[in-house]
Amino acid sequence: MTKDRTPSGKLGINTQLVRAGYDPFDYHGFINPPPVRASTVLFPTAEVMDTHAQKYTYGTRGTPTTNALCDAINELEGAAGTILVPSGLAAVTIAFLAYLSPGDHALVVDSVYGPTRHFCETVLARFGIEAEFYDPMIGADIERLFRANTRLVHTEAPGSNTFEMQDIPAIVEVAHRRRAVVTMDNTWATPLYFKPLEFGVDISIQAVTKYPAGHADVLMGTVSANAEHWPRLKETNGALGICGAPDDAYQVLRGLRTMGVRLDRHQQSALAVAHWLESRDEVARVLHPALPSFPGHDIWKRDFKGASGIFSFVLAVERKQDFKRKAQAFLDALTLFGLGYSWGGFMSLALHVNLFDRRVTPPPAGGPVLRLQIGLEEVDDLIDDLERGFAAAEAT
Ligand SMILES: Cc1ncc(COP(=O)(O)O)c(C=O)c1O
Repeated sequence: MTKDRTPSGKLGINTQLVRAGYDPFDYHGFINPPPVRASTVLFPTAEVMDTHAQKYTYGTRGTPTTNALCDAINELEGAAGTILVPSGLAAVTIAFLAYLSPGDHALVVDSVYGPTRHFCETVLARFGIEAEFYDPMIGADIERLFRANTRLVHTEAPGSNTFEMQDIPAIVEVAHRRRAVVTMDNTWATPLYFKPLEFGVDISIQAVTKYPAGHADVLMGTVSANAEHWPRLKETNGALGICGAPDDAYQVLRGLRTMGVRLDRHQQSALAVAHWLESRDEVARVLHPALPSFPGHDIWKRDFKGASGIFSFVLAVERKQDFKRKAQAFLDALTLFGLGYSWGGFMSLALHVNLFDRRVTPPPAGGPVLRLQIGLEEVDDLIDDLERGFAAAEAT
């Protein structure tokens, strides 16, 4: 006799994370799906082969492992479909390639992830697509930037490194009225703290490299579409042949199971450190959307369910010529924070933010901007480490 294992009622987020995408009884009760690697998939008859009348047909089109992750992400995003790609950056670039053609104009937020800007200014420009960068705080005013050929609006909230919030519903309203696709890099919040598709965004992008994988050892991106835009995304993915590897998908799905509790911890610890930094004379400003002092705080409070563990602060330094020296002295004195780029893992990280590429929004004034990813260590230990940084910056 088989037992009905379908849960009744709406599940809480951590319950959802434990179950999403895979039923252990689909594979003999083993609690994780097997990592099914493939190029070749066999067909039982020539007719089945001719009509592709089976679920799996070729390695690039998915295996039970990649499918389990896609299903889990669909559930979390509320999406019609999700594709996996080998990095978060590839997730952004494939979304642009899916919806833009030569002669099109795209509006891209100025606080965008740096390599996304680079893609716009090199590959897209070469293909005759113009990307124009807009102020993250623009809101409904974005309408004045629209042209007859504006096809895509790319959002990222909070913005990379400086954490500006965006009024997503206001931007979506204008973009849809003007028949443009809205894409969003939602890596910071994950669908646990913000669900782009519920706010009218068409395409939700995540570098699942970060919190979903959670251990700083996997690269992967996901692109999730609403029903209207899913066919085009799927078609582009198939045409380009850019697919996520089953072993990486396995690791990301494994990470997802604990992402809720990890994010909760990242959130609490990052807020504790941010509040502590706000009380320090050595700090000019703390750039964290969950702080009431932050300009985009009201939008964050209105639309988001939480804050993850990465934010920045401005080290108070008077003379511009001292910025780099003081920032580097601070960073070199840290013993628990690693100096590294890719965030979302268990270890705390710090870096001196480079804002030379901003086109529209000036960098925050008052000193060098330092970005912190708060990991899973004890907050008191991290604060002691930051004290060492302040002492070193002061002494240099
Ligand atoms: C906001 C954001 N989007 C995308 C990416 C790219 O992710 P990946 O490192 O997997 O290419 C990053 C990486 O830092 C990021 O911070």
